[in-house]
Amino acid sequence: MTNTFRPIAADRLPALLAAMPKAELHIHIEGSLEPELIFALSQRNGIAIPYAGVEELRRAYAFTNLQSFLDIYYAGASVLITAQDFYDMAWAYLRKAAADNVARAEIFFDPQTHTARGVDMATVIDGLHRACADAQKQLGVSAALILCFLRHLSEEDAFQTLEQAQPFLDKIIGVGLDSSEVGHPPEKFARVFARCRALGLHLVAHAGEEGPPAYVWSALDVLKVERIDHGVQSVRDAALMQRLARDRIPLTVCPLSNQKLCVFPDLQHHNLGRLLEAGLVATVNSDDPAYFGGYINENFTQTFAATGLGATQAYQLARNSFEGSFGDATQKQQLIDRLDEVFAKFE
Ligand code: ADE
Ligand code: ZN
Repeated sequence: MTNTFRPIAADRLPALLAAMPKAELHIHIEGSLEPELIFALSQRNGIAIPYAGVEELRRAYAFTNLQSFLDIYYAGASVLITAQDFYDMAWAYLRKAAADNVARAEIFFDPQTHTARGVDMATVIDGLHRACADAQKQLGVSAALILCFLRHLSEEDAFQTLEQAQPFLDKIIGVGLDSSEVGHPPEKFARVFARCRALGLHLVAHAGEEGPPAYVWSALDVLKVERIDHGVQSVRDAALMQRLARDRIPLTVCPLSNQKLCVFPDLQHHNLGRLLEAGLVATVNSDDPAYFGGYINENFTQTFAATGLGATQAYQLARNSFEGSFGDATQKQQLIDRLDEVFAKFE
């Protein structure tokens, strides 16, 4: 599981973190909408937003918890109307991902945020899927879509959303669960996830971001998810940590998000190192990079600088990201081989 490479000098760590190929497994595409694009789309579509300009909007990004962020995040997404808008948003992200040496991106989208405003499911998926196809052809990035249900809405709404997505299931690889966590336990969506499982979709869920370890248990045992998004609260439950390690359940950790949403007081106190030490398949991801101060490489460099993690952990995190991805076995092995080549060059 671990590579044997000679020590890599600490001053070369930022370059290594940037150069190593990686998979991003936790990115909400609506969270990649930069203020500049929000204003451009607001003008293009004639949709007013209650901020005077880019700087004023950026100043509003001072969050105290998950909900304080979600309120602004859903407001930002309200400028998305046409398939081209969704394409432009996803393409902007994929170009940045390519620059960060992301070889594989598994991208969340929140269709209910759009269908509730009268935008068709077909419009959303058409724009996003075209960008993913172009990313493979033009950027060499393998990109796939994961449809997320909003957990603050009802089970019935989730079932309706699945119904609307039915004609496009060949364009998504799985489903997830996001939005306001506390008060909306995974059990609420047990029947929806059972249906998605029967349809052969991959399953993931946000759990243990702000919510208790009990939500991680029920995401695993009731929803039967294959990955846990965030999951950082799992350290409060020793039996849960053993279960996650034993079953090699990937955790898609998002350090800058956790800092911005006050899950940890600062990056120095982030528990990424502890998760790795406990043998968990932890990965590093950007969550909502336009809102949290950085894309995936910024998450790596800031977290490593703050916590003192080194090349061994860098390798493990990148390798975990490929192991935890939903690509096929051949792709995973090719990407791990590329990772090994980059590390060999840095020795
Ligand atoms: N939607 C977008 N980002 C999210 C996060 N960090 N947690 C829950 N829902 C989200
Ligand atoms: Zn998230």
